[in-house]
Amino acid sequence: MRKIYIFDTTLRDGEQSPGVNLNTQEKVEIALQLEKLGVDRIEAGFPAASPGDLAAVNAVARAVKRATIIGLSRSREQDIDAVREALQGAEDPCIHLFLATSPIHRKHKLRMEKEQVLETAEKAIRYAKRYFDKIEFSPEDAGRTEIDFLCEVTAMAIRAGATVVNIPDTVGYLTPVEFGGIFKTLKSEVPGIEKIQLSAHCHDDLGMATANALAAVLNGADQIEGTINGIGERAGNTSLEEVVMALETRAEYFGAKTSLKLTEIAKTSRLVSKLTGMVVPGNKAIVGANAFAHESGIHQDGMLKEKTTYEIISPETIGLRESKLVLGKHSGRHAFREKLIDLGYELDEESVNAAFAKFKDLADKKKNVSDEDIRAMLEEKLVDTPEVFSLETIHVVYGNRSVPSATVTIRTPDGGSKEQSAEGNGSVDAIYNAIDMATGETVELEDYSIKSVSQGKDALGEVHVVLKQNDVSAQGRGLSTDILEASARAYTDALNRLIEKRKSPGRRDKLSLI
Ligand code: KIV
Ligand code: ZN
Repeated sequence: MRKIYIFDTTLRDGEQSPGVNLNTQEKVEIALQLEKLGVDRIEAGFPAASPGDLAAVNAVARAVKRATIIGLSRSREQDIDAVREALQGAEDPCIHLFLATSPIHRKHKLRMEKEQVLETAEKAIRYAKRYFDKIEFSPEDAGRTEIDFLCEVTAMAIRAGATVVNIPDTVGYLTPVEFGGIFKTLKSEVPGIEKIQLSAHCHDDLGMATANALAAVLNGADQIEGTINGIGERAGNTSLEEVVMALETRAEYFGAKTSLKLTEIAKTSRLVSKLTGMVVPGNKAIVGANAFAHESGIHQDGMLKEKTTYEIISPETIGLRESKLVLGKHSGRHAFREKLIDLGYELDEESVNAAFAKFKDLADKKKNVSDEDIRAMLEEKLVDTPEVFSLETIHVVYGNRSVPSATVTIRTPDGGSKEQSAEGNGSVDAIYNAIDMATGETVELEDYSIKSVSQGKDALGEVHVVLKQNDVSAQGRGLSTDILEASARAYTDALNRLIEKRKSPGRRDKLSLI
């Protein structure tokens, strides 16, 4: 079986998703989980975008030990220098250079002729080669580039010292036959192609990113680029879990496999969804909540008789372990620990104790604590944002014929606490107005979403908000059996992150690639 290398760009292209804004700690947390998942390469960010991005890439580079860490760079010396600085301390550094090659980009964006594109890219690769053994080069918008010119660019990149040439379908325009055809042509026409790896980078604008990536594999691609849950610019990138599971499930057909630890897929998906605030649609292949649910009677009957009638992947393969133990308020520490083992968590003694205390609190409010509740509870505070403000109490008065009002008590940075009441056009609005008054912060609520973590009326609710103040935005999350309390917690969490971000002004808010 041919090995297909997996290049994860959740932290770079994925972070370009509208509304997504990860802080350094969150990036490190995701990178460490990606490493557990076994991805070969992690694109950690775009260091030249801002000092904050550079610092975040550096933190990832120092934390990750096994995977190759990659920094993105335009084809210019300042960007390359920024990647050099950001990748200091990386065990296995790599630079990813790009320059657009399609007629549309050449004419309107770069205002360059073909010759200038070739010269600029070659100069950049040769400059980078002084400092990096591993260089990936991407002819941006390769999908809409004349095939002869793409062959010329690829040959130049190989001569100049690239070790991987990546073919991006930047705007998600191609069909699988067309995209696969590019790889076939490059393989047969470009001198020296056997010396490098060919990579595929697809976007999902027409819903064909996974199919295009797999077509690339069938035509000789060595590496697939993508993101967890398929997040990314516009309609997103290739969904890595889809490609990996397609290769796994149809290994004979593709004659190729990845070396990912499949049982880490579900956990990685949940983590990325939680930290980016991008909810995974229920019907999403592989990681959606319904991906393994069988609703129709005929399917259920078939499943009971023989699972393979309707199941091509077992949920356990991606780490969705089912635990038979039902936990409630009378469950003891021993049962709780067994449950953690069943669900695949390896916690030290201190963490088990802390988790057990949280579980007891939850079990007081909920009759049965489900597996989803336990996962949500354990994964709630993965990243500790320094708490400037925290919610102590909350009281809400709502009636459909009266103006909603809320009173909150907020613990303030000086150790004291402040109580404030406010009205609003709804309960959540009233709570947020009261928190604004108590903290003295003026922010805009850019996004608010709520989802239920498990089933039933007493399910845990998870709220995700994005707040904006001047040019800085930050997201926050809150979890509670009460959605108003979860809303308040998400808001204070986002406020704390916003304040933290204000202290490091180098952090840009949105990546702009030109
Ligand atoms: O989609 C794209 O073209 C990119 C490049 C930077 C590789 O993300
Ligand atoms: Zn891209």
